[in-house]
Amino acid sequence: MQPRASISGHTAITVILAHPVAHVRTPQAMNAHFDSLGADAVLVPLHVLPEDLASVVEGLRRMRNLRGIVVTVPHKEAIARLCDDLTEEARQVGAVNVIRHETDGRLTGGQFDGEGFVAGLRGAGHDVAGRAVFMAGAGGAAAGLAFAFARHGAARLTIHNRTASKAEDLAARVRAAYPGCETRAGGADPAGHDVVVNATSLGMHAGDALPLDVARLAPPMLAAEVIMAPEVTPFLAEAARRGCATHGGKPMLAAQIALLARFMGAV
Ligand SMILES: NC(=O)c1ccc[n+]([C@@H]2O[C@H](COP(=O)([O-])OP(=O)(O)OC[C@H]3O[C@@H](n4cnc5c(N)ncnc54)[C@H](OP(=O)(O)O)[C@@H]3O)[C@@H](O)[C@H]2O)c1
Repeated sequence: MQPRASISGHTAITVILAHPVAHVRTPQAMNAHFDSLGADAVLVPLHVLPEDLASVVEGLRRMRNLRGIVVTVPHKEAIARLCDDLTEEARQVGAVNVIRHETDGRLTGGQFDGEGFVAGLRGAGHDVAGRAVFMAGAGGAAAGLAFAFARHGAARLTIHNRTASKAEDLAARVRAAYPGCETRAGGADPAGHDVVVNATSLGMHAGDALPLDVARLAPPMLAAEVIMAPEVTPFLAEAARRGCATHGGKPMLAAQIALLARFMGAV
């Protein structure tokens, strides 16, 4: 592998906080993005345990050349409480996946999971505006997606989750923020929707259950996925077998990389 050309005293430093950290793909993607733009910036992975998060963030806050912090599992919710300001999206979701280090040392938390997903869909020629969206999942990623679908003009949103109370709670929060999007919790049947999304972690491991009733998938539905590996999850394979168009999880990360770099001010 080519060594990075140079890191100097001028280089904009960004970090990603995770536990565990070895599996994260953002450093490779972000550093390739910096290189492609000729930006004098670098992203470094930091392995941080939950019990150390507050003291690590306090130390990072004092580093004058730290431009920003990317945040992933399991820190996204805890770190929101350590920020000085939150963007509207981060406040809605209650979780942060990127922080900008302001010149006065303040930390501004942002949230781009949903924006990245919608941008990835758009890049592939798919829009949620005016569409009926079915989403399986009500965890961290799903919350970001739900608010983004409503923000980008989805006409209807049905949220299905194993723990139904979480789907109901998320649906109520989205309804309160975006009354124009008809949002409700629902069962596993995606019939009657235009875009069907898996936002659970089901499909990452062999033998996982399917996230929704795939027998009810049919064209012209679009089946979209948050999981990046495997590239074709059982949900996407079932959708393709039934003649539906599919959209994998990789564009969500690719679209987020540019959004996160810009938010941190690193490019
Ligand atoms: N492509 C990208 O850029 C990107 C970005 C962020 C996340 N992701 C992916 O998104 C996925 C979800 O991440 P997350 O942070 O939202 O995780 P999370 O907060 O832990 O939520 C997990 C979700 O999956 C459901 N689930 C887990 N195991 C299940 C099972 N055995 N049966 C039924 N439902 C189950 C959970 O349901 P309950 O509420 O009932 O537990 C919940 O809805 C992960 O695969 C992650 O890699 C991708």
